[in-house]
Parts: sequence; structure tokens; C-alpha cells
Amino acid sequence: MTQEKIPLAGVIGSPIAHSRSPLLHHHWLRALGIKGHYIPMDVAQADLETVVRTLPKMGFVGVNITLPHKETVMRIADQITDRATVIGAANTLIFRKDGIIHADNTDGYGFIENLKHGAPDWAPREAPTLVLGAGGAARAIVAALADAGVPEIILANRTRVRAEKLRDDFGQRIRVVDWVQVGNYMDEPNLLVNTTVLGMTGKPELRISLDRLSSDTVVTDIVYNPLETPLLQQAKQIGCTTVDGLGMLIYQGLPGFERWFGQRPVIDDTTRAAILA
Ligand SMILES: NC(=O)c1ccc[n+]([C@@H]2O[C@H](COP(=O)([O-])OP(=O)(O)OC[C@H]3O[C@@H](n4cnc5c(N)ncnc54)[C@H](OP(=O)(O)O)[C@@H]3O)[C@@H](O)[C@H]2O)c1
Repeated sequence: MTQEKIPLAGVIGSPIAHSRSPLLHHHWLRALGIKGHYIPMDVAQADLETVVRTLPKMGFVGVNITLPHKETVMRIADQITDRATVIGAANTLIFRKDGIIHADNTDGYGFIENLKHGAPDWAPREAPTLVLGAGGAARAIVAALADAGVPEIILANRTRVRAEKLRDDFGQRIRVVDWVQVGNYMDEPNLLVNTTVLGMTGKPELRISLDRLSSDTVVTDIVYNPLETPLLQQAKQIGCTTVDGLGMLIYQGLPGFERWFGQRPVIDDTTRAAILA
């Protein structure tokens, strides 16, 4: 008698206890009636390669990769998508039946899909986007914005050289401006994005002047803890359309789930509720 194999997936990081991805994927598994599991795994850097190479032998069909392993895992994967190569980091691994470990980065996809749903009137080609921050998430977002046809990205980061590095990597469509001057550029974009940790619970506040911000500008924050960050609250008061960061987390998980389990989940209010539970 052949027994049905139960597909396993998960997320590898360190620390990992705070991750909301297991809530998301278990919700989708239940909603679609799939007999699979999604497991959080706290793995040290030194053990990453051994663990990743062992998982397929244990019935894993793939995993998400989160901090601090997103760059390291690029050296382990056999096949890397163009977008992950450009970004220099991967967040989704697919363990193919032929033994190939395939790596992708879906953060930028998650960011753009979330915006498309939260601000359907945003016209990427019509005006610059102002991006705050130049960390790992910003790299994926800048690549996705460039792909979406944004004519110029105004980029401000506390550590200016990091923003300049991003411009060197992604080309001249990026204009680096001083972090302390960023309030002076608020009248230019039709989209303002916070990719820094500022505003997150336990982190300092994001202190920038929004005096020049137009109510036509869409404002999004990739921080989702709290869901409505002080930046989004202020932007709402100005009359801007705001998009919170939870949807990015949801949409970045979609391509992996679909590849691992063979079904595409529907995203609706129950998805958000499952993660917030
Ligand atoms: N919604 C989602 O799905 C999603 C996905 C990925 C990440 N995130 C969130 O996005 C945030 C950034 O993640 P990441 O991976 O890009 O982190 P990261 O690589 O560590 O980058 C952190 C960014 O925050 C800036 N920053 C930190 N402390 C600052 C301060 N005191 N003043 C000004 N800027 C400061 C850093 O500037 P410097 O370069 O000057 O240090 C850098 O730009 C985190 O809160 C993460 O949870 C959300």
C-alpha cells in the first residue's frame, strides 16, 4: 500500500519565534484543505547549509528564508532567479524533485501587489517615488519600483553611503538625498514608502516633516507592527491614501505557497484576521 506523502514547508531564521508566516500558511493550508505543515525553524548561520540540504530528504518541498540568512542562502542555492540575483538576497526556496534548490526573492512582488490592491489608482509612471531607507527590504522594493516603470526614485537613508551603494547597483534612475533634508522633497512624489524600522514597536519614531506632502500622494509603510504606524496616521490626517505593511507579508508568501502546495490561495479579510489573531 502506498501512503500519501504529507508536504512540509517552513521558515528558517534566527530568531524566528516572532514570525507570522506560520499563521499565514496554516490558514491557507486549512482553507484549501491541504494536508501539509509549515514549520518555524531557528537555525544558526553555521548550520544553514546542512539544514537546507537535509530538508528535502525529510519531505520538505521548500522554505521561506528570513533574517539573517537571506544573503547567505544565495551561496547554497543551485538556481537563482534574476530578481533574487539583482537584489542579492532570497526569501523563498523551492526543493525541486530533481534535487535542484531553486531560490527566488518575492519581497518586491509582495510590495507591488499590496500597493496595487490597497491603492489601485496609484500611477507608477506619472511621478517619482520617495523611498525612506536603504536596507535589505529597500533593495527588493527599489528593484520592483523600477520594474513597475517609476520614472525616478528619490532615496533617503540615515547612512548616506548605503543609499549611494543602492544607486550604484540599480542605476541612475535613483536620486540620493540627505536624510535630514527629506522633508524638502515631499512635494515631488505620488508615492512615499517607509522601509526603515522606524515607527515599529520598540524602535524610535520616524521624525520627518510631512508639511509639503500632498493629499494625492499614496503613503505606505512596510512596518506592520503596529498595523497603523504613526506615519500612516499622519498621512491619513492629510487625506492621503494609506497602505499598511501586512499585505506585503501576505503577498510575498503567495508564490512560495503556490509552488510548494500546487494551489493558489484566495486573499481576503480572513487572511489578515488569521495573521492578526
Ligand atoms: N511587510 C513586510 O512584508 C516586510 C518585509 C521585509 C521587511 N519588513 C520590515 O521592514 C523593516 C526594515 O527591514 P530590513 O530587512 O530592510 O532591515 P535592515 O536591512 O536592517 O534595514 C534597516 C533600515 O532602517 C534604517 N534605520 C534603522 N535604525 C534607524 C534610525 N535610528 N534612524 C534612521 N534610520 C534607521 C537603516 O538605516 P541605516 O542604513 O542608516 O542603518 C536601514 O535603512 C523592518 O521593520 C522589517 O520588519 C517588512
